[in-house]
Amino acid sequence: MTKPIYLDHNATTPLDKRVLDKMIPYFSEVYGNASSIDHLHGHHAKQAVQQAREDIAKILGCRKSNEIIFTSGATESNNLALIGVFRKYKDKGNHIISSAIEHPCVLDTLEFLKGEGADVTLLPVDKYGFVSTKDLEATIKDDTILISIMFANNEIGTIEPIKEIGEIAKANNILFHTDAAQAVGHIKVDAYEMNVDLLSFSAHKFYGPKGVGGLFVRTYSPFIKLSPISFGGGHERGMRSGTLNVPGIIGMAEALNIASREMDKENKKNCKLTKKILTKLKQTFPDIELNGDQKKRLSHNLNITIPGVENKALIHILKDKLSFSTGSACTTTKVKPSHVITALGYDEERAYSSIRFGLGRFTTEEEIDITIDALTKAVIKLRNM
Ligand SMILES: Cc1ncc(COP(=O)(O)O)c(C=O)c1O
Repeated sequence: MTKPIYLDHNATTPLDKRVLDKMIPYFSEVYGNASSIDHLHGHHAKQAVQQAREDIAKILGCRKSNEIIFTSGATESNNLALIGVFRKYKDKGNHIISSAIEHPCVLDTLEFLKGEGADVTLLPVDKYGFVSTKDLEATIKDDTILISIMFANNEIGTIEPIKEIGEIAKANNILFHTDAAQAVGHIKVDAYEMNVDLLSFSAHKFYGPKGVGGLFVRTYSPFIKLSPISFGGGHERGMRSGTLNVPGIIGMAEALNIASREMDKENKKNCKLTKKILTKLKQTFPDIELNGDQKKRLSHNLNITIPGVENKALIHILKDKLSFSTGSACTTTKVKPSHVITALGYDEERAYSSIRFGLGRFTTEEEIDITIDALTKAVIKLRNM
């Protein structure tokens, strides 16, 4: 049986073969601990990690390479940013502003921080998924210490007005964190230019390995220090103890180097292909609706509602042909409607009939033609059942 066509690149991306080639020696030949500075084995690993840190820092618009703290991925980076800021700066205030459409690893961390005394405001979004900068300004209080708004949404692809939010944060002397897990490697991200103080990212979202990511922590105007959430050897300037994942870090840097070179070409292709899916499907089913904004969106993401068609049923009958998702949060015991679709102001029924396609670097037009054909047949079948 042939493999289904993979259209879930917002969940994860395959490792680019060029990245794998770059990583391999660091599993077997260059195996020293990057913190072992007494011998050459350690020194070689340390040098490679330093080069990776410099590459990543440059691409993300940092001032210094040590502003990059390596972690196990965006979940850990988000935990470290939010908990680390709150514990370090809670003497200045306890109010944190975020949004209703953040990833669960932000929302759940904020819930946890409420137990430590945090006062959390979640901003609503409009029907396209945008946070309003007016709402943000009106929500700021004297004791607001942190604003955390995601760069681009993982379900509907909406790109938030990050630079404007950063300006507001700066003018009010409030730290600004952004979860850029879906943005880094896909669109231009420049930490200083965008007035960002802390920025989370994850290698497996841009054709790098799973289990490695990073957090940008600004060191200039202001100099930020975080309370650590793990303790030990004092790695990463004391903010994240633990032996560095050298092959993972080398892979992440290579993946980001490739992504920054190929981003424009990839975006052009994906924009054309997502447009094609929507246009063709709408020709057959005019009641299909796009979720998210038409323009300010990740080009490889397409989230649509097909009225009257249950997303789980559609995914099930197509599972041998296509791999795509509902975009909604599910646990093993309970299926919940997407908190993102409902935050747009839609009812649960719309959430249960919405599907997410995430196209990728290696997606071809032929695969998209097969996808359109298979989807069309499946929707007709389900609507006639
Ligand atoms: C917006 C966003 N934040 C955070 C995460 C978590 O990233 P990781 O898998 O690296 O922990 C994801 C991944 O699903 C995401 O899409």
